[in-house]
Amino acid sequence: MFPQGVGYLEHLASGQTRLPNRLIWGENLAVMAALLPEYQGKIDLIYADPPFFSNRRYPARVGRNEDSRKPGEWKLAEGYGDHWVDLESYLDMLFPRLVLMHRLLSPTGSLYLHLDWHANAYARVLLDEIFGQDRLLNEVVWLYHGPSPIRSAFNRKHDTILVYTKSDRYTFNVDEVRTPYNDNTVKTFASSSKAGFGKIPDLARGKVPEDWWYFPVVARLHSERSGYPTQKPEALLERIVRASSNPGDLVADFFCGSGTAPLVAARLQRNFIAVDSQRRAVHTARHRLVAAGVSPFQMETASGLHPELDNSAAPVLGWSAEDVFFKHPGGELDYWELDLAWDGVIFRSAAQAFRAHRNDQLPERLSMQGVRGKRRICVRYVLSNGGEGQLSLFD
Ligand SMILES: C[S@@+](CC[C@H](N)C(=O)[O-])C[C@H]1O[C@@H](n2cnc3c(N)ncnc32)[C@H](O)[C@@H]1O
Repeated sequence: MFPQGVGYLEHLASGQTRLPNRLIWGENLAVMAALLPEYQGKIDLIYADPPFFSNRRYPARVGRNEDSRKPGEWKLAEGYGDHWVDLESYLDMLFPRLVLMHRLLSPTGSLYLHLDWHANAYARVLLDEIFGQDRLLNEVVWLYHGPSPIRSAFNRKHDTILVYTKSDRYTFNVDEVRTPYNDNTVKTFASSSKAGFGKIPDLARGKVPEDWWYFPVVARLHSERSGYPTQKPEALLERIVRASSNPGDLVADFFCGSGTAPLVAARLQRNFIAVDSQRRAVHTARHRLVAAGVSPFQMETASGLHPELDNSAAPVLGWSAEDVFFKHPGGELDYWELDLAWDGVIFRSAAQAFRAHRNDQLPERLSMQGVRGKRRICVRYVLSNGGEGQLSLFD
């Protein structure tokens, strides 16, 4: 369960102190302001999926193998809140963040702002003001289905994604996102070449997708499900990343939640910056990125935020010539990672162990193969209840 980590160590050992991929735990206004001197005009694509002004709490599901039809029995942990005094206070949160996103975007960059019926109309007015009315590229409607308790209105089963570009010279890779024509269209053209008013589409190449997209929500049986609330489907992000960025580009998500956007970006050979203010979100995103074995990334904490260190029963750390052993009697361990050359400042994750969603197993040993000379080991760990801690041992 550890080989992906080797890349981290090698990357850092090659003399580079800053990795291009960054996962940051922090309040995004402060983080974006701090990034501005280095990244102004440099981010090629921003996907933003903020709270929707729904006035609800979204707990995270941390239990495993539970019956989804019995919510009363679910094991829940803190997720994120979406509570506001009024619409004005919500828009006061959104506006300065959108302004910073606009400044961070490159001249050919695009912003995808993902909202729903609660606030999308107001956000569009803000974006018109910041980007200019003529910079609205698309109003994408994401359609999905699923159960709903609503009996006094139509079921609300779509979100709105407002797409704005920084200029009229924007990246849009139409051939990367073409979809097959539907069977009826193919049959019609097969029977009559005049069907398209004289224009015969290139059926093999596929069509340019409409601005309404159907992707199923991430449901209980989907392997991509992380347990983090309001997780967006990878397929949705894949279309966005493919259409509006190129390999090697920088993609940012300042409300990253479970990390869908950075994960998809990394898989498609883009670099990423991902930020979230919730510890659970950053932990989930780290877990997904590590499990997927994508490019190395750097974990950072914005100043002013410190992990609440776990103070339950003392964990046990030991090692042999081949491996490191770690156990936590005080709580259910969800994740642990190792720095094998701890310098006391920057944690370089060389190997990681995480509890697999499917079989609920977490390795208690991680390999130390290849480590020679004195060992300066540091372990960082996260418990299922959210507690975190760190422990180091030296030869
Ligand atoms: C709708 S969720 C994002 C879900 C994500 N797209 C995914 O696929 O998992 C919104 C996220 O924004 C985060 N958030 C809200 N306000 C924030 C802020 N001011 N700074 C950083 N993150 C924030 C929340 O903690 C939450 O994880």
